[in-house]
Amino acid sequence: MKPKIFVTRKLPSAAMEKLEEFFHVSVNPEDRVLSRDEIRQGMQECDILLPLLTDTIDAEMMRSAPSLKGISNYAVGFNNIDVEAATELGLPVCNTPGVLTDATADLTWALLMAVTRRVVEADQYNRAGKFQGWAPLLFLGADIYGKTLGIIGTGRIGSAVAHRATGFKLKILYHDHKRNEALEKELKAEYVPLNDLLRTADFVTLHVPLLPETTELIGEKELRSMQSTAYLINTSRGKVVNETALVKALQEGWIAGAGLDVYYNEPELHPGLKECPNTVLLPHIASATTGSRTAMGMLAAENAIAIIKGEKPPHIVNPEVLNKQ
Ligand code: GLV
Ligand code: GLV
Repeated sequence: MKPKIFVTRKLPSAAMEKLEEFFHVSVNPEDRVLSRDEIRQGMQECDILLPLLTDTIDAEMMRSAPSLKGISNYAVGFNNIDVEAATELGLPVCNTPGVLTDATADLTWALLMAVTRRVVEADQYNRAGKFQGWAPLLFLGADIYGKTLGIIGTGRIGSAVAHRATGFKLKILYHDHKRNEALEKELKAEYVPLNDLLRTADFVTLHVPLLPETTELIGEKELRSMQSTAYLINTSRGKVVNETALVKALQEGWIAGAGLDVYYNEPELHPGLKECPNTVLLPHIASATTGSRTAMGMLAAENAIAIIKGEKPPHIVNPEVLNKQ
């Protein structure tokens, strides 16, 4: 008999086919996020759970799933899973890094350019029939070329964002919990304390994982220390930014604008946010390319298969459980 996998939402077809070769697949038939009870129910019978970043998987759910052998998350971020509890229960937790790095870095640039050059606002104006012809003062935005980019978090994605900056001749500042010598050497990126980065960067872009120490990393004090001409870009996790402070910063002009792909209480938008014209607000689509979402599915499938075979999965976030088995 094939092992059972529970997939909380349909993935691109190549990934579903790969899963079906190896597993008996049960998948959420509806195009919506499942409730906690529905996921808990689905977990009862499965060997592997394949959840999304929108599914919170807590300790109690894991404890009440008697046949569960591991979790293969369809995301690079794994803040939706209580990894500590999984480790205690000896359950491997896997994620999908690498395959979405370029798509996410590209979208970070799309957001940066869209918000600084007011692309969305200008498009809406044009569609509304308001365009009366070229005008010297129509939709003036900010220059990008030659400015200073501040990258917070220089893992795979932050580094890929930095590499794209060289074409714009940007000066690159970065902050991280450790030095990134490759970036310093290859791109002359300069390591600076967080406050110096915030004070001097024209664009501040966030690429940290969501951890207790990165939760609300950007709050009132940090936003107040940015330049009034600077922009904040977030394609990491919404909870890295205190949105009450952000809305105030946008309304009161402490910063020039924000490009966001992620939100504190996703999918809700913080009150006041959508009324701020100096924002571009995307619905968490950074990894949403056909190539990237398919590759994430293939990798999630490989991770799941390796768990069942008792092999080391390509990407495991709690490798210490392997030694225990
Ligand atoms: C996307 O947000 C991911 O973590 O994969
Ligand atoms: C995630 O893949 C990162 O390292 O930024």
